[in-house]
Amino acid sequence: MAPEPEDEIKDEKNPRPLDEDDIALLKTYGLGPYSTSIKKAEKEIKDMAKKVNDLCGIKESDTGLAAPSQWDLVSDKQMMQEEQPLQVARCTKIISPNSEDAKYVINVKQIAKFVVGLGDKVSPTDIEEGMRVGVDRNKYQIQIPLPPKIDPSVTMMTVEEKPDVTYNDVGGCKEQIEKMREVVELPMLHPEKFVKLGIDPPKGVLCYGPPGTGKTLLARAVANRTDACFIRVIGSELVQKYVGEGARMVRELFQMARSKKACIVFFDEVDAIGGARFDDGVGGDNEVQRTMLEIVNQLDGFDARGNIKVLMATNRPDTLDPALLRPGRLDRKVEFGLPDLESRTQIFKIHTRTMNCERDIRFELLARLCPNSTGADIRSVCTEAGMFAIRARRKTVTEKDFLDAVNKVIKGYQKFSATPKYMVYN
Ligand SMILES: Nc1ncnc2c1ncn2[C@@H]1O[C@H](COP(=O)(O)OP(=O)(O)OP(=O)(O)O)[C@@H](O)[C@H]1O
Ligand SMILES: [Mg+2]
Repeated sequence: MAPEPEDEIKDEKNPRPLDEDDIALLKTYGLGPYSTSIKKAEKEIKDMAKKVNDLCGIKESDTGLAAPSQWDLVSDKQMMQEEQPLQVARCTKIISPNSEDAKYVINVKQIAKFVVGLGDKVSPTDIEEGMRVGVDRNKYQIQIPLPPKIDPSVTMMTVEEKPDVTYNDVGGCKEQIEKMREVVELPMLHPEKFVKLGIDPPKGVLCYGPPGTGKTLLARAVANRTDACFIRVIGSELVQKYVGEGARMVRELFQMARSKKACIVFFDEVDAIGGARFDDGVGGDNEVQRTMLEIVNQLDGFDARGNIKVLMATNRPDTLDPALLRPGRLDRKVEFGLPDLESRTQIFKIHTRTMNCERDIRFELLARLCPNSTGADIRSVCTEAGMFAIRARRKTVTEKDFLDAVNKVIKGYQKFSATPKYMVYN
């Protein structure tokens, strides 16, 4: 027995090198008897699964949905039934914000106030004081932050589909287009130019001119070109039944506009609300005036206005309240006059572009025959010319049709033309 420890010591000092059998034996240490074969089988299974997946092709379709064979409608339905709708509440106060145990005071309308915590899916940075939030019905924990409440009729005013009018569809009006783009596009595309000079870019544009001179048309072209959110408001939409509603809509409108990165608000026919303040002699106050004053207030921007540009269009700039027009609110005034000869020729060409016309029609001659007419008149001439061709059962429109149409529209309808009347105001 005695030499054994000695032997071991000697072995440790001068160990025998391991041969291959020993290494193989060491490697199996801790493994079960079938581990290698199990491993091999697992690898084979994996390979086979991969091969099957490859043969199946891409699982997700373009819609991001799994293949219908993998849908589990029953469990989905069950989950939807278990998931309760959230309740809308307002977070009125945050107790000890920016700390681990921040608590939130919420006010559920017509129920009560609660002090609650956050749900699992919201982070504390998402929730601010005064925000609308969605809470669950059991513990009233805050589950989602909600956007501010904005009247649906205001939300509907956002122009989502871009109008198909481009600057190319506006004949003449070179100067007006230039002025408009300077205000609307330049500050959005090159804000650094204004910063360098140290001036504030102009805030808004008033377009004025007789009816049918292309004010709305140009605004549509602007909406088409810009990537900014475009909100279109017709003046009369803001005239509401109840006192204070119009002003509230204006407020919500600007609130929505401010929440966007860049936004253009276009008030068409602004004389519906922008009329000069007057005393109606009865002593009653005027709701319409209040709406206009709210616009004035929003234009001034006691709150920072963000990247909002305001465009307005009217036929009667003289009736507008001077407060609305003073520099700093609507800095730019762009007049839309009657088109000159060159512009009229161009407008003729624009409106006949899609028409099936005879070749070499002398548009300049036609333009000469329509002095003092607006873009809308010229468009009407083109339509009438088409009607003459239809009546004569022809497939193309001839120059004679155009001449007849000029006679009918420009000469015949002269007594309906409001242009001279409106020219007085501009
Ligand atoms: N410069 C123009 N180039 C091409 N078409 C024009 C031009 N001006 C007017 N038109 C035609 O006249 C139509 C009416 O113009 P628009 O709606 O812009 O008038 P408006 O100036 O807004 O008038 P209102 O003050 O009555 O609203 C347009 O749809 C367009 O077809
Ligand atoms: Mg218009």
